[in-house]
Amino acid sequence: FSLKPFNTFGINVNASHFVSVSTVSELKSVLSLKEYPKKLILGGGSNMLLTKDFNGLVIHINLKGIEVVNEDSDFVYVKAHAGENWHDFVLWCLSHNYGGVENLSLIPGNVGTAPIQNIGAYGVELKDVFHTCEAMHINTGEITSFTNAQCQFGYRHSIFKQEAKDQYIITQVTFKLTKHEHKLHINYGTIALELEQMHIKNPSIQDISKAVISIRESKLPNPKVIGNSGSFFKNPIVSKSLYQTLLQNFEDLPSYPVSETEVKIPAGWLIEKAGFKGKRFGDYGVHKNQALVLVNYGDATGNDILELSKLIQETIKRLFNVSIEAEVNII
Ligand code: EPU
Repeated sequence: FSLKPFNTFGINVNASHFVSVSTVSELKSVLSLKEYPKKLILGGGSNMLLTKDFNGLVIHINLKGIEVVNEDSDFVYVKAHAGENWHDFVLWCLSHNYGGVENLSLIPGNVGTAPIQNIGAYGVELKDVFHTCEAMHINTGEITSFTNAQCQFGYRHSIFKQEAKDQYIITQVTFKLTKHEHKLHINYGTIALELEQMHIKNPSIQDISKAVISIRESKLPNPKVIGNSGSFFKNPIVSKSLYQTLLQNFEDLPSYPVSETEVKIPAGWLIEKAGFKGKRFGDYGVHKNQALVLVNYGDATGNDILELSKLIQETIKRLFNVSIEAEVNII
């Protein structure tokens, strides 16, 4: 069974067994199947690099549904099931005029996998709108609820990447969204400029979404056309002293404050400086408009991309003494 249509990198590996589940009870019974000791949980397939065939059971999470579960005068609590496409969920919120997720427009993947890496873009992270989630324990089938604090969200990080890694399947997420007064985030990156070019002075959440979509479409390849997994690497957090040293050689090095002692620097900038931006090696390479994105032009293998990522990591380490870590899961 080919997994090519189920991963946005478009890598063609096979799974020996595959099942798509659309209810929580189906999920529970599939998890208890003893004849398949090896299981791979698949959501939107947008944050993984498959490097080999999978001899086991792939479980595709296809739980659907979006509903309002509670509201007060200012906020609405919206529950979305794990298999909902993230951007479709954002569009649903915009059509109901619920605010909070507009900056997260067009991020590939599904609702259920968004908390794992605390997806974020243009000054907003999932944690800013996340209320609670429910997750099924893989071994016991028991459902546990996690609050925002319990998820221990950080930059591209959560408990589901640490203590709870590979132990739970998120089945649904409840978001806390605004009903009237939207605190808009327009100061990050080029959003303000984009709105200006759109001749919009007092943007609505729908306008912000349009601006974000336009920026993303100009920089990031559409996975339906060119296989990719968004940012392949995380932006590294480095000590201020290393940052100062780098600045002496590269005065245009961008940075974002993190703490008294650390700054975050864009991996895309380092990769571009190292000369990789737009480089193509056969069927794989580094995207021409955003160096943080590795791409599959057709029939690249997972190992082609993995080797390229290692070459980039080694080169960045050698040139800048900075270690960059993969953001995608290598399987
Ligand atoms: N830059 C370069 N060359 C490049 C790419 C970026 O010099 O090829 C520089 C830009 O000029 C800018 C800085 O790096 O000064 C930041 O670039 P950008 O705003 O494009 O964002 P990023 O840091 O490269 C992060 C997220 C993206 C998210 C954007 C916008 C990570 C790993 N990536 O990218 O998330 O959309 O900010 O908020 O944090 C994703 O995770 O898949 C993803 C696309």
